[in-house]
Amino acid sequence: MIIKNGVIANSSISFKADIKIENGIISAISQNINDNDGEIIEAEGMYVIPGGIDAHTHMDLDVGIARAVDDFYTGTVAAAFGGTTTIIDHMGFGPKGCSLSHQVGVYHKLAGEKAVIDYGFHGVIQHVNDDILNEMDELIDKEGITSYKIYLTYDYKIEDKDAFRVLEKAKENGIVITVHPENDGVVNYLKLKYKAQNRLTPEYHAKSRPLECEAEAISRMIQMAHMAGDPKLYIVHLSNALGLDIIRQAIDRGQKNIFAETCPQYLFLNEDMYKLPNNEGLKYIMSPPLRSKDNNEKLFSGIEKKYIDVIATDHCPFNFGIEKQMGKDDFTKCPNGAPGVELRLPLMFSEGVMKKRISINDFVEISCHNPAKIFGLDKKGEIAVGFDADIVIIDPNKKINISKNILHENVDYTPYEGFELQGYPVVTISRGEIIVKDNKFLGEKGRGKYIKRKIM
Ligand code: URP
Ligand code: ZN
Ligand code: ZN
Repeated sequence: MIIKNGVIANSSISFKADIKIENGIISAISQNINDNDGEIIEAEGMYVIPGGIDAHTHMDLDVGIARAVDDFYTGTVAAAFGGTTTIIDHMGFGPKGCSLSHQVGVYHKLAGEKAVIDYGFHGVIQHVNDDILNEMDELIDKEGITSYKIYLTYDYKIEDKDAFRVLEKAKENGIVITVHPENDGVVNYLKLKYKAQNRLTPEYHAKSRPLECEAEAISRMIQMAHMAGDPKLYIVHLSNALGLDIIRQAIDRGQKNIFAETCPQYLFLNEDMYKLPNNEGLKYIMSPPLRSKDNNEKLFSGIEKKYIDVIATDHCPFNFGIEKQMGKDDFTKCPNGAPGVELRLPLMFSEGVMKKRISINDFVEISCHNPAKIFGLDKKGEIAVGFDADIVIIDPNKKINISKNILHENVDYTPYEGFELQGYPVVTISRGEIIVKDNKFLGEKGRGKYIKRKIM
């Protein structure tokens, strides 16, 4: 296959050239590649970028009271339509006391015969002891699991001492610790307080999780990471500017190995949505919650100034008409999470690149290159000879009015209904195979490969 005449955009450079693909790998990049045998894809006037990497999804997540409604088939088909060719899924909690491999086994079963794009798993740590710490070493070679998530809130939150032990282990073996940072004590106190006052509408979900709770937990993790010798610490789903300030201060004073992720919902949606009529605020119940418009702006400038490394989605969809209704009389009963995997690249391209807030190279850096580099996908995230031919062609002239009906996510709403986007992915290629073209899915169920990740 040859992709001709497009503008190839990597994280540091863009240039016009052709790309030759053989056996799923990029085999040549140069001017005027001619080969009569191959399929030709014309990309004149288009951007040709590395396939998107969404480093934070929750396909088929079991949250106890409900299950996320995209499985590894529907969720990865939707991802492919939006130009994402790899996901790193955050595994859900297993039974109390289970080993780390227990959930890895469960997730191979969930994803193996379904995923249509390549995928990896972040490990999940729900308790800490010597066996768990040893298993973290073992799973590097055995499963290529080179990152874990710890939660400072929710049922399987871990205590500071245990978070510290995990950070020390990461210092020793080079893995990445990702953290859901919220101050559990304050969040739970506020939830109970609002419940007792009968304040149960969706806006109290946001009020019970103030941004200071998030910022405090970010600060705590950054200080603990420093005490543990600066292992790689990755803050997931950063939602607010106070948390960003704490990250910026640590980076500016020279602390190494701090990475931050935000998601489109924290850039383009805001807390006013919790007050929408007909209980539509339930659609936006996620943790951390949406913040003010001012926070949207400040987070975007954190991307511009490169204090935020990655755009992911935290894709975790529940139907408004079904699962979300569990919270109609009490926000604490509503499953947390929202859809987003299909629109990550389109939103960032339209609102970032087309509105000239970030360059095309910055866009590639946060959506493709950095997630690969941070999480050990050593053959992805770049258009270069020898890399996997995961390639997306974006038509900057294509205008799309977003509505649930044009999306492929298996959920009854999109938080981005009515957004008018300029520019959209039109061809998605995964390891040399065209899987989306002319708005049709051409891949096969289960074709996605599990990727064993490296320590980078
Ligand atoms: O509300 C959210 N974000 N649900 C998914 C789980 C998580 O905390 O990432
Ligand atoms: Zn989280
Ligand atoms: Zn998440």
